[in-house]
Amino acid sequence: METYLFEVGHLLFRYFHIVAGIAWIGASFYFVWLDNNLTTPPQWKKDKGIEGDLWAIHAGGIYEVAKYKAGPEKMPPHLHWFKWEAYSTWISGALLLSLLYYVGADVYLIDPSKAALEQMSAIALSIGCIGFGYLFYRLICKTPLLNNGLAFAAVALSFLTAWTWGIDHFFSDRAVYIHVGALIGTCMAGNVFNVIVPSQKQMVKAISEGKQPDPQFGLIAKQVSIHNNYATLPILFIMLSNHFAFTYAHQFGWLILIALFIVGMWIRHFFNLKNRGIYKPSVLISGIVAFFVVMLACAPWHTIKSKTELAQAAVEQVHVSDEQVWQIIQSRCTECHSQTPTSAMFKSPPAGFVLDNMAQAKQFAALINTRAVVTKDMPLANLTKMTDDERDLIALWVEHN
Ligand code: HEC
Repeated sequence: METYLFEVGHLLFRYFHIVAGIAWIGASFYFVWLDNNLTTPPQWKKDKGIEGDLWAIHAGGIYEVAKYKAGPEKMPPHLHWFKWEAYSTWISGALLLSLLYYVGADVYLIDPSKAALEQMSAIALSIGCIGFGYLFYRLICKTPLLNNGLAFAAVALSFLTAWTWGIDHFFSDRAVYIHVGALIGTCMAGNVFNVIVPSQKQMVKAISEGKQPDPQFGLIAKQVSIHNNYATLPILFIMLSNHFAFTYAHQFGWLILIALFIVGMWIRHFFNLKNRGIYKPSVLISGIVAFFVVMLACAPWHTIKSKTELAQAAVEQVHVSDEQVWQIIQSRCTECHSQTPTSAMFKSPPAGFVLDNMAQAKQFAALINTRAVVTKDMPLANLTKMTDDERDLIALWVEHN
């Protein structure tokens, strides 16, 4: 029952997180688009203090949007803030992280081959690292660096690289990616909470009192919302990364993450330029090329034993029998990957992947090879203690199958 509740919580929090994230990033994309598509309004609107207007049709309705230079003469009774999208994404993310990586620390957070942490110390370390990363970000936002986009990006990315490399020393590969996501998500939601919303509050207050809003405050809000904007594509990749073991489970997974982070920012840059009327396909193309260069670099060149190496082993081994492989699978995989798992953690086969007989093993040989030989992230957290020799035997078997 407990594991069933775990699964239901997992579904609920992940569902919530995706929906909230779509609402947040969707609203953010929409407003960037809106700002960049405003046209000069007619004189009568300008006289009212409107600096840009836009007409749109959507779902059977025609909409008129107007952006004020400072604000309307009188504050409207209903002003939409768009802040709960950010807060609920963060809250659902925190719930998901706590459930999977804290409650399920033994499976998802701790990797005994890196550091033999106890559940509580691993959790404390996780919170401490995210807190430390967030404080560092807040600190550099208070320096003059904030006004120099490129220098800021260089410092922030160097820090992120060191931070990611650091946590790679004691958290599981999968957890490393999710922690980077948690740190970036915390910085983004923190920007909304600590900077953007307070600055908007100040603006609304000033307008309602008939005063000029302090431009300095708005300027900082603008800068940090640019940070959020550049982080959107990288953070979406991190949200998806759990499906791509070849990235996080790679020997240099932390470096691949940083490289893809930069590629994501660079591609975002193309869209930002385009929105400002600067069309530079070279930015997009170089971003896509860089993506493939990273993919090429993380191809399993070194983990896959070459055919000759395997052949040499084959001379000694001559032949790997189905029975031998079946024994390995039974002792290392079916605890989880069965219609009736015996694992304490999983009561239904994870990812619906079942290895209950040899026919299934043969059918899914390629998948087994991918996760047990190439990325080596199965068995999960190597809970069933698969040995390297066994992985070699599987590789050999797949090769001859
Ligand atoms: C402790 C439980 C556990 C053990 C033992 C385990 N796995 Fe997994 N496996 C999981 C979980 C959880 C997932 C889903 C998450 C993921 O894809 O990373 C998964 C997913 C997979 C997938 C992806 C299936 C798909 O269609 O997406 C493959 C392939 C796989 N495991 C193979 C293996 C092999 C081969 C072994 C034995 C060498 C093994 N696993 C042992 C827990 C386990």
